Amino acid sequence: MSASPPAPLPTVRTVSDLRAQVAAWRRDGLRIGFVPTMGALHEGHLSLVRLAGTRADRVVASVFVNPTQFGPNEDFDAYPRDEARDAGLLAGAGCALLFAPSVGEMYPPGASTTVTVAGVSEPLDGQARPGHFAGVATVVTKLLNQCQPDVAVFGEKDFQQLAVIRRLVRDLDIPVEIVGGPTARADDGLALSSRNAYLTEAERPVAAKLNAALREVLTKVRAGEPVEAAEQAAVAALLAAGFRQVDYVEARVPDTLERVGPGPANGPVRVLGAAHLGRTRLIDNIGD
Ligand code: PAF
Repeated sequence: MSASPPAPLPTVRTVSDLRAQVAAWRRDGLRIGFVPTMGALHEGHLSLVRLAGTRADRVVASVFVNPTQFGPNEDFDAYPRDEARDAGLLAGAGCALLFAPSVGEMYPPGASTTVTVAGVSEPLDGQARPGHFAGVATVVTKLLNQCQPDVAVFGEKDFQQLAVIRRLVRDLDIPVEIVGGPTARADDGLALSSRNAYLTEAERPVAAKLNAALREVLTKVRAGEPVEAAEQAAVAALLAAGFRQVDYVEARVPDTLERVGPGPANGPVRVLGAAHLGRTRLIDNIGD
């Protein structure tokens, strides 16, 4: 007897349908978990769904390629989209509902409110991608208000994004617990990312050197070496390895993302990096 195919994942496309399903679950006393995504799902996303499943009775995932977080010269149009594939993967990871709104549902005509988070949004990707975190903060605020989950899970792979979201949830008194999920990695250390699909065969082994460079910085900083020298050596190593541009490699204080150094670091450290390999912009971070 052949196994029956998995049931298709229930999918809603409007805020009112999402709210109706979540309200029905709440009437049954169920706890709701939420994993916002932009689709093009990989094992990293699925690990977040499974993590949400350990903290909630029903997990909702959203797939929405949010135009407001892409810059004018970024890959919004090229961003990979395959809802049927994503829905199958989500169902297999234990997701109970997919929220897949249109751009018009998320940003109806006349929408004119933007959420900006000062401080943690400003350095690093805030410098390299102007406007990006306002787009993220706005859409995440909307998604949390639309779904009203008990717990929402975001990947540590986007460490600065996680810091921005923690801050906006605290500052705007949004009643949700934010949980960070560990970064899923390939065997050679490359952080899984939807954008890895852009890497050529020749670039793929080089891409793993970003993680290696960040590790090197953390090791040196932990050994008491001056922070700036360690950062500069990592940038030079990445350029020598074939990266065409390094936006930053910096050791930062995990909670505030303030700079560590310039001398030896004492407290907790997160090393964050972003670099371009061919047409692919890679980001990664590590801490202890
Ligand atoms: O991390 C992402 O995939 C996106 O930035 C998010 C949080 C879903 C907002 O669009």
